[in-house]
Amino acid sequence: MRKTFFSIATIAISAAMLIGCGGAKKDGGSSGAMSGSNAEKVYVAPGEHDEFYGFISGGFSGQLAVYGLPSGRLFKVIPVFSQDPEKAYGYNEETKPMLNTSYGFIPWDDSHHPDISQTNGEIDGRWVFINGNNTPRIAKIDLKTFETTEIIEIPNSAGNHSSSFVTENTEYVVAGTRFSVPIPQRDMPIDEYKGNFKGSLSFISVDPEDGGMDLSFQIMMPGFNYDLAHPGRGASHGWFFFTTYNSEEAHTLQEVNSSQNDKDFIAAINWKKAEEYIKAGKFKTMPANYAHNVYDEHTHTATSTMKKEVRVLDPADCPGLVYFLPTPKSPHGCDVDPSGEYIVGNGKLSANLTVHSFTKMLDAIKNEKFAGEAYGIPVLNFEDVLAGTVVQPGLGPLHTEFDDKGNAYTTFFISSEVVKWKLGTWEVLDRKPTYYSVGHLMIPGGNSRKPFGKYMVALNKITKDRYLPTGPELCQSAQLYDITGDKMELLLDFPTIGEPHYAAGCPADLIKENQTKIYKLEENKHAWVAKNEKEAKVTRKGNEVHVQMTMIRSHFAPDNIEGVKVGDKVYFHVTNLEQDFDVPHGFAMIGANTSELLIMPGQTETFIWEPKQPGVWPMYCTDFCSALHQEMQGYVRVSPASSNIELSWSLDGE
Ligand code: CUA
Repeated sequence: MRKTFFSIATIAISAAMLIGCGGAKKDGGSSGAMSGSNAEKVYVAPGEHDEFYGFISGGFSGQLAVYGLPSGRLFKVIPVFSQDPEKAYGYNEETKPMLNTSYGFIPWDDSHHPDISQTNGEIDGRWVFINGNNTPRIAKIDLKTFETTEIIEIPNSAGNHSSSFVTENTEYVVAGTRFSVPIPQRDMPIDEYKGNFKGSLSFISVDPEDGGMDLSFQIMMPGFNYDLAHPGRGASHGWFFFTTYNSEEAHTLQEVNSSQNDKDFIAAINWKKAEEYIKAGKFKTMPANYAHNVYDEHTHTATSTMKKEVRVLDPADCPGLVYFLPTPKSPHGCDVDPSGEYIVGNGKLSANLTVHSFTKMLDAIKNEKFAGEAYGIPVLNFEDVLAGTVVQPGLGPLHTEFDDKGNAYTTFFISSEVVKWKLGTWEVLDRKPTYYSVGHLMIPGGNSRKPFGKYMVALNKITKDRYLPTGPELCQSAQLYDITGDKMELLLDFPTIGEPHYAAGCPADLIKENQTKIYKLEENKHAWVAKNEKEAKVTRKGNEVHVQMTMIRSHFAPDNIEGVKVGDKVYFHVTNLEQDFDVPHGFAMIGANTSELLIMPGQTETFIWEPKQPGVWPMYCTDFCSALHQEMQGYVRVSPASSNIELSWSLDGE
């Protein structure tokens, strides 16, 4: 068995060297020197808008970046799992609770798979969800404000990779553990992994009105690795499919030991059945400890609540809940076509692509044609569920997306290419190189019943010679292809933030009309708001000084403060009184050991400053807000700890 693995690996590595190194292979016609018509296809004239939004994960930056397509222009980096000094996310008092976890304040994660909410199987543009891999979490970003408004931690999970994908009415967003671990966690020898470690799959319900997330239930699975997932749709709505690898249950040198079995599995989960079992009380309530963090748009403040329990279903006690579909050689991507009939498993070490049939799967289940079982879960026969095979399409298949014309597009990491093939006939129609080592790809709406098959974006791991070098670390990038014709055409390369791990896209019209332009001041329920300059004041509680300050073009109120002492903890609660679109103000204080604040119209944010030395210390607006932005400044007088100077504050002597 080892021999087989090594021979596949050797072929793979030599192919990678041929393609990756040496003289970069040039794309026959369209990429080397971009043709005039291709340039026109990505040119969005000054002042005009892109046709699509692209949400590209920032990978190990922990964030989510918003691009326009086809231009590839970067509009915004939305802070999600990592602190962001540009926007004060995770630095101001209001958003710090968003990064609370059962491990404490964790200001970083590895964000991987964005997925946009759906209604009736179509992208609806309300929210985008994204997972944190490292400290298992799912975040929700509101596409009215482009702000992270909710983060839920996933207990009983480690390496939250097969996440965050939504069902066709956003009933659930799912998460699955990449690493199996002892559940509940305990001190035990690692080499007792087999049979003792477990993997959990989590179903987080989403409130159809306000999007509120709640960990509804978990399914306790055998100790495999759960890699990726996609929902059923159409006829297969009600099912969810997860790829597994390491069905060997190895715990060391996994590059070899997890590659022994000829086939691993795609786990088919009947989540409607799970709902019945939950309703019937067939669950076990397990103690757990996980954070649920919610940002309130009216208090402009997040709260973090620790949850203490989770409902768990054991497949061995719940017939009909889970089936295993044998799938060759450590499958990675698990992709479902727009009709919901085909489930594509991308076996990383397999020469061929395997496509399962949902109809055949149901037949085999109905006739109870099982090949055996694993930990009480029925295993179906490979041949019984096989819809077809794409024969030798490339090396190292990872992920597949779909257009609206019955075609599938699969990325090949080792041979650095995207291959287009036909659903149903399984014939390869076209292949185009990517530069280089492509991971995921994205077609707007590709994970829905209604893909928008105009563009495909390849998300590459390596760029080598494609851009000006920037020291030892070269940029990573995305590449945009036109997929409207028979042949794919490379149109554009654009660099990305962090690792462009996966992406989601949708027509701009679904989002752009719904934008929040300002927060209404009269609806501001922040505990320390000052709704006008008369309400601005400074109060002392022991050594805490609370400054309720306002800002409007182009001054702070108050802008002179005296009576602060060394040893005080000064809270600046700053309200932006503006009620016009796109007039934020910023706030920064010399020597403050935090970021600035960036405050939107009608919003209040809080910043803590602990003065270290007596003196008169300036503060200023960091956002270029007006012609007199540079005059938007003020002073705080700091006296020695022993001083008895009374607190006072003023604006222009008043
Ligand atoms: Cu306010 Cu610059």
